[in-house]
Amino acid sequence: METLHEEATETRVGVTMLQDEERETVNVRVVHTGSDPESDPRREIPVLGFRDYWYPVVSERKVPRKKPLYVKLLGDELCIFRGKSGVAVVSDRCPHRGASLSGGKCHYAGTVSCPYHGWTFDETGTCKAVISEGPGDISSIPGKVSVRHYPTVTIHGIVFSWMGEGAPTPPERDLPIELFDGSFIQHDATVWHLNWRPALENLSDNHTNYIHRDAIQILMQPFMKASYKGARTLLSGGGCGLNYYSDGTERTRPYREYFPEVDGYWPKHSYRRAWIWLFALRPLSWIWKFGDGYPPSAWYHPGSHEWNTGPHMPGMQRICGGSALYTRWCVPIDENSTKEFYMWATRPTSSRSRFWKRITYVFAQRLFRNRNLGFQDGNVLAKLRYDLPERFSNYDVETMGWRRLAILSARYGGRHDKIPVGVLNKLNQRAVADLRARNSAIPADVEAMINSDVR
Ligand code: FES
Ligand SMILES: [Fe+2]
Repeated sequence: METLHEEATETRVGVTMLQDEERETVNVRVVHTGSDPESDPRREIPVLGFRDYWYPVVSERKVPRKKPLYVKLLGDELCIFRGKSGVAVVSDRCPHRGASLSGGKCHYAGTVSCPYHGWTFDETGTCKAVISEGPGDISSIPGKVSVRHYPTVTIHGIVFSWMGEGAPTPPERDLPIELFDGSFIQHDATVWHLNWRPALENLSDNHTNYIHRDAIQILMQPFMKASYKGARTLLSGGGCGLNYYSDGTERTRPYREYFPEVDGYWPKHSYRRAWIWLFALRPLSWIWKFGDGYPPSAWYHPGSHEWNTGPHMPGMQRICGGSALYTRWCVPIDENSTKEFYMWATRPTSSRSRFWKRITYVFAQRLFRNRNLGFQDGNVLAKLRYDLPERFSNYDVETMGWRRLAILSARYGGRHDKIPVGVLNKLNQRAVADLRARNSAIPADVEAMINSDVR
């Protein structure tokens, strides 16, 4: 089993020199192999998510005109309504006597009124009127009381809120870059009944060819073989992806393999071969492919390891299919439920191809992937125990990489950009050495990080 400790004992990358404190940090454990729950490294990853980030709250078109909406996020109960300058997010708890603001009404433009005594708040959370008492010359409350307000930005019809206590970061710094580069963004969401941490780890582990073997999209393609052997993770900014995706053996292994240990074949039947040739044809292959295909022949964001395939802080998993980029963002609702927020970025070149992307989204993404495939995961994971000792295999390498990033972010103040560059470079050194040995290009952002680490 690969551990951080092993990586930390490898040769140094270039100029990287670690201070003592950082050397301690890179020896972090990521797998819970002991029986003492107190030593479980997963406990370091906040159960209700990393707070100092922007999170998707709701689709703008779902916010009614005349009444507020209730949403729970990171354990916080929120009241969403239409303010004067856009969708507003405030705490759902009325500061007067604790009634639920989202049970109220929007009587006046840009405000929400509590259903109990009619205290009325604007989009900054300031109390503007107390309807049950009278106008401002009678009531002493307006302007003096406020409810917590969450900074909000709406991009491509998605309302994002800053969930931290302090000043928000610029959205361009933390949100996926395709939200700002003219991409065509389609999105939707489902709810899974489990904590966000195992929900996110689900997409970085090696389960597709088993749990999804009879999913609609998987039935359309050649039977998959695991292809992570020897892969390593590479950390860059808030992202953590595999530095390569295949050792090539999945292409040379036979369609059906014999398992002598159980005296049987897998897959058990070859019947899907009767039709997979049909779905390999270009007019139909869009139904199951991620864009041009997966693994991709080109990155959606050339030169960026951070924003292509792999987990990303504070809880996204991204899959690049060359001409398309899929994001599943596991947004904590509370300890035991997660909003699976899906984004699909493409770059249609004409109104016709834009129309085609819409069709693709409704069927291939929303129905076949987010629902059919997603619920296969969600149903199994709902009964998963995330507190027992674990035994990882070499194929769990991406999950280990994500945990490193998350645990280090938690240790450095809950933000990935507070992790010292020297620590990231130290963790990347084996992956970088692998890439160099294979004469593979080092992603531009990783190269820049290595070069910036001169002390
Ligand atoms: S509890 Fe909200 S107005 Fe009284
Ligand atoms: Fe899955």
